[in-house]
Amino acid sequence: MKSKIGVLGAGTMGAGIAQVAAQSGHEVVLVDVNPIQLDKAKLSLIKVLDRMIEKGTLDENGKSGLLDRMNFSSQLSDFRGSGLVIEAIVEKIEVKHAVFKEIEEIVGGECIIASNTSSLSIASIGSVLKFPSRVIGIHFFNPAPLMPLVEIIPAVQTSDETLATAKSMVDSWGKLTVVCKDTPGFIVNRVARPFYGEALRIYEEGIADFATIDWAMTELAGFRMGPFTLMDYIGNDINYTVTETVFAAFYFDPRFKPSFTQKRHMEAGFLGRKTGRGYYDYSEGVELPAP
Ligand code: NAI
Repeated sequence: MKSKIGVLGAGTMGAGIAQVAAQSGHEVVLVDVNPIQLDKAKLSLIKVLDRMIEKGTLDENGKSGLLDRMNFSSQLSDFRGSGLVIEAIVEKIEVKHAVFKEIEEIVGGECIIASNTSSLSIASIGSVLKFPSRVIGIHFFNPAPLMPLVEIIPAVQTSDETLATAKSMVDSWGKLTVVCKDTPGFIVNRVARPFYGEALRIYEEGIADFATIDWAMTELAGFRMGPFTLMDYIGNDINYTVTETVFAAFYFDPRFKPSFTQKRHMEAGFLGRKTGRGYYDYSEGVELPAP
C-alpha cells in the first residue's frame, strides 16, 4: 500500500504538491490554518480535474478516485499515520521551527518530515527535531503539477535512508530529481536571483519599464516568462523573502542585494496574481500589457 502523505500549507505550492501526490495514488491530507485557503485549494483542484476531463487526460472515475484520496483539514493531528509530511508554509524560519516540532509530536518515528523551502537552511529547520535524521528538503517548482524538476536537499543531519526514500518517492511521482547541497537558494533559486535582481535594477535605473523588460526577455532572449511576470506568478512576498534570505546567508554579498521596488510592492500588498495586482493588474483577468 502507498504511504499516506501530509502536506502543510494549502497555498500556491502546497495545493499543487498535494495534487501531485494524490495523482500518484497516495492518500493525502492537506492542512492549513486558514479555512478559506482550504476551500480555494479544493475548488481549484476540481477545476483542474475538470479541465483534464475536457482534454481527455482523466475520466470521471479518475476524478472521483482522486478526490476520495484527498482530505482537507485544519488539524495537524490529521497527519497521524503519514509516511511523509511536506511543509509548504510561509518562508520564515521561526514559523517553520514551530510547526516542525508540532508535526514530530504527531507523526510516527518512521515519518520523513520535509520542507519545500526555497532558501532556508534545512539543517536549521531540522535542528528542532528530536530525530533530525528524518529531515530533508523537497523543493518543487511552481506550478508543482506541471514543473518536472524537484530539488532534493539532504541536510548534514539527514540519514542515507531518508534521502533514498524521499528521492525514490518523488521519482515515482514522475518528477526529475536533482540532489543538491544544503546551501542558500540551492541550485535554481540561486541562479535565478540575478535574473530578478538585475531586472529590478534595470527598471530602477529608468532604462525600461516592466513590460518592455519582460517583452525583451521573452521575445528576444527566448525565456518562457519575463522576470516581472514570473515574480507576479511566484508572489512578491515569497520572492522578496527568498532574496533577503539568500542575501543574508551569503554574508550580504551585493550580488544578491534585495530591491526597494519589490519591497514596496510587497508592503502595498501587490503580491502578484494571488492578490490581483503585482507589477501588473490582474483584477479584470487583464493579461500582460503590450510593451
Ligand atoms: P503561500 O503564501 O501561497 O501559501 C502559504 C500557506 O501556508 C497559506 O495558505 C497559509 O494560510 C498557510 N500557513 C501559514 N502558516 C501556517 C501554519 N502555521 N500552519 C498551517 N498553514 C499555514 O506560499 P507558497 O508560495 O505556497 O510558499 C510556501 C513555501 O514554498 C515557502 O517556503 C516558499 O519559499 C516555498 N516555495 C514557493 C514557490 C513559489 O513559487 N511560490 C516555489 C517553490 C517553493
